[in-house]
Amino acid sequence: MTLNGKTLVITGAASGIGAETARLARFQGATVIGMDRNDPMITLDEFVNVDMAVPDAIDTAVAALPDRIDGLVNAAGVSGLADCDLVARVNYLGLRHLTEALVPRLKGGAVVNVASILGVDWPARLGAHRALSETQDFASGLGWLAANPVPQETCYQYFKEALIVWTKKRGYRLFMDHDIRMNAVAPGPVMTPILGEFVQMLGEERVAADAENIKRPAIADEVAPPILFLCSDAARWVTGISLPVDGGIDALYT
Ligand SMILES: NC(=O)c1ccc[n+]([C@@H]2O[C@H](COP(=O)([O-])OP(=O)(O)OC[C@H]3O[C@@H](n4cnc5c(N)ncnc54)[C@H](O)[C@@H]3O)[C@@H](O)[C@H]2O)c1
Repeated sequence: MTLNGKTLVITGAASGIGAETARLARFQGATVIGMDRNDPMITLDEFVNVDMAVPDAIDTAVAALPDRIDGLVNAAGVSGLADCDLVARVNYLGLRHLTEALVPRLKGGAVVNVASILGVDWPARLGAHRALSETQDFASGLGWLAANPVPQETCYQYFKEALIVWTKKRGYRLFMDHDIRMNAVAPGPVMTPILGEFVQMLGEERVAADAENIKRPAIADEVAPPILFLCSDAARWVTGISLPVDGGIDALYT
């Protein structure tokens, strides 16, 4: 697998999975433009500061990106300890806004969305996720959510489910109409700065029960290679999937 000559845009590049993906992509020959609200702590080819919760800020950031992009990795995210409105904005609506804004520059390229094993129950709420996926833009998404409120306690899971459904529904059309592949990865627990927040969010009891069933949390460098495989030409016939990268948890739930 090589990423020679490719230009990748990676959100969440200042930390965790996004940073590791950016590091590995450069090592594989890509030119990497990182985006984050925080400054990066690794070498990038370019960095664009952005608040992914604010559509105007995303539009300003998009203006600073090149005309031709081969891959977009949407890794920026917040945990369910954040207010539900912020989770909706960063983990779903902002990600979607950025992706749609880049469609004209991504022809022949790939998008990879970082979902989660916590989105595994998407089929249980498919109707709602489909309806949200059909809203046309950030503002109408917010309007739909105002009419269909999401409980704070499960909002992280809800928007990861919604992201998987949008990846499939929109990904299908992106491939047919624009020759853009869009896939998701669904990691289990990963040793990144946000992991402690997930433990707090899920509660000690659930975490202890889960710990019995997994070997260990992943390291971010075990999640980055599958993301970059999906960005690469080796995955040129793979689109609309959510790939578990979880050491077997998805298989356990089956
Ligand atoms: N760590 C895990 O256990 C785990 C498991 C499954 C999925 N995920 C998902 O992986 C993705 C990356 O998480 P991570 O583990 O690397 O966490 P992390 O906290 O290390 O990195 C998240 C990055 O997103 C950035 N970010 C957050 N809000 C932002 C905003 N409003 N605008 C711009 N940037 C913003 C942060 O600054 C940070 O650099 C997230 O979407 C997360 O939900 C993580």
